[in-house]
Parts: sequence; C-alpha cells; structure tokens
Amino acid sequence: MKSIIITGATNGIGYKCAIQLAKIATNEQIIIACRNQQAGKKVIQTIKQKTGHKNIICLPLDLESLQSIREFTTKFSSQSHNKIIALINNAGIQNIAAIKFTKDGFESTFGTNHIGPFYLTLLLLPYMDFNGSITFTASGVHDPMQKTGIAPPIYTNGKDLAFPKETNEKENIAGQRRYSTSKLCNILTTYLLQRKLSPSNIRVNAFDPGMVPGTGLARTYPPLLQFAWKNIMPLLTWFKHNVNTAQKSGTRLANLAYSEQYKNYRGKYFEGDKEIKSSTDSYNTIFQNDLWQSGIELTGIKPGETSISLF
Ligand SMILES: NC(=O)c1ccc[n+]([C@@H]2O[C@H](COP(=O)([O-])OP(=O)(O)OC[C@H]3O[C@@H](n4cnc5c(N)ncnc54)[C@H](OP(=O)(O)O)[C@@H]3O)[C@@H](O)[C@H]2O)c1
Repeated sequence: MKSIIITGATNGIGYKCAIQLAKIATNEQIIIACRNQQAGKKVIQTIKQKTGHKNIICLPLDLESLQSIREFTTKFSSQSHNKIIALINNAGIQNIAAIKFTKDGFESTFGTNHIGPFYLTLLLLPYMDFNGSITFTASGVHDPMQKTGIAPPIYTNGKDLAFPKETNEKENIAGQRRYSTSKLCNILTTYLLQRKLSPSNIRVNAFDPGMVPGTGLARTYPPLLQFAWKNIMPLLTWFKHNVNTAQKSGTRLANLAYSEQYKNYRGKYFEGDKEIKSSTDSYNTIFQNDLWQSGIELTGIKPGETSISLF
C-alpha cells in the first residue's frame, strides 16, 4: 500500500477531491494533511461513510509554519506506508484584507500558497514513488490574458514577494495581486521541478479548477460579496465557461493526480480536464530560477534533506 497526501481537504475543492480519491484509489492510504485536526477527523468520518474506504488518516500540517512542515515530514516518514504515489498541493488562501505574515515572517499568501508547498514537496521527494505524481492547484488568475477580474500577477523576485514593500495600491487590489502572483509561483515551480526530476518517471502538473464559487476561499471578502459567493455565483456554473462546482473540480483534480488517463503528462498545465498553455510569464526561466533559489534560501533547506540537486 502506498500513500496519497492531499492538503486543503477539510473544505472546498480538496474535500471533493479526497472523496473522489477514496473512490478510485481503493488500495492506497489517503492522508489528509491539515492544520485543524478536528476538521480533519470529521472529514475522514464522512468520506469513510460515503465511500467505504478504510485507510484514511489525518496528520497535522500548517503550511504557514516551516517547523510544522518539518514535523509533518518526520511523522509521515516514520509510519509504515511511507511511499508516496500522489502528492496533491491543493491548500491555499486568498487574503484581500490587511496584509498578514506567516510564523516565519513571510507575507502569508506567498507563504501559504507557494513557500509552504514548495518546502513540503522538497522534503517529501525522498519518499516519492518512482511513478508518483505531484500536482499543484494553481489558478487561471495567474494569466493576465484570461481577464478574470482579479488583479493580474507581477513577478518581481522571490525575496520581494516574501517581504513586500509598501504599496500605493488599494488593500483589496494588493491582496488580489499577491494571490494571483502566488498562483503564478505554483506554475513556475511546476515547470522547473519537472525539469529537475526529468530522469525519473515522477510527473509534476499544475491544475486550474476554474472559478469555484461557494468554497471557503472568499473568507476575507466583505459580507455582501461573501453572500454572493455562496448563494448567487454558484448559479454561474450552469452557463459560464470555466465556472465549476467543487464536486466537478475536485473530481478532476483527483483524476489528474491519480488516474491512468494522465500518466503520460509531465510538466503540463490543465484548465479543468484540458491541457492548455499557461501565461507567458510562467515559462520565463529567469523567474523560475529566481523563485527556486529564493525558496531554498527562505526555507533554509539543505542538500541532504531532499533527493534532487538544489542548485
Ligand atoms: N475557489 C476558487 O474559485 C478557486 C479558483 C482557482 C483556484 N483555487 C485554488 O483551489 C485551492 C483550494 O481552494 P478552495 O476554493 O477549495 O478554498 P477553501 O474552501 O478555503 O479550502 C482551502 C483549504 O486549504 C486549507 N488551508 C488554508 N491555509 C492552510 C494552512 N496554513 N495550512 C494547511 N492548510 C491550509 C484550508 O484549511 P482550514 O479549513 O484549516 O482553513 C482548506 O482546507 C486553493 O489553492 C485555491 O487557490 C480556488
């Protein structure tokens, strides 16, 4: 038995993804990596009831803390099913309110959406199955050409994104931009990590779930917008392109990470179940290398802690 690790499965897209995993990965152990153990246990109980899957556990993980990520890796590696067949980096936040910082002092959107998953992935690489997959939940908002209504990303450099300078932008616009930039970082990481892993069979892909109204992502929106997000915008799933239910996107994410159908896709970007080109900036190797290098410096990861060359 091998393990599937999924982050952000206590809610939204990740929760629905975990249900689909429990249906299609009947012989694997599913690990819900979450910061709220109560929520994790509740989700496991429901998924077991819905699917009959017997091997689902949760392990504590707070992506806003490098220490927590190290502890997660230690706990995971010391349990018996410590070969990873799929790692799904799905957890994420969007903060359009006042800027916040992680326990290590990084801007929290960049810290949670990029640095956390980056560090977790590198620490877990020694446990990846030769045929395993790594999937990052990114977003169409990373691409200015998609005109999503969210302020488009501006990649400056990794250190500036971790410790942003004062900006003249309105609070909500700056927050949107930090979010779209963090999602661009997921794709920059996908492409460079795939190249670094190329002699192995491990595949790394990025996934855009589309707009998925009703999830917890809008936690920092003003009350009226939150109401619309939960109660009105879900109607768009009926007729608007790339607006999906959590059920549809979660199922697609699970299939991309685990099903046979996607075994030959490496270093690709998916909008739902279709492979498409990502933004021009996402293929910029200067950005990719800078982000990689800053990630190494910010996390302090050492060569002996992962299984690929850091430089
Ligand atoms: N909804 C959309 O329209 C949309 C569109 C494109 C991309 N996405 C991406 O899809 C992913 C899932 O989003 P969602 O819409 O399903 O949002 P969600 O309902 O808010 O779910 C987010 C999940 O991430 C977890 N999480 C947040 N911060 C964490 C941390 N520090 N450590 C560990 N787990 C943490 C949350 O756990 P807690 O319950 O503990 O907070 C929750 O389980 C995100 O990466 C998001 O950027 C969403």
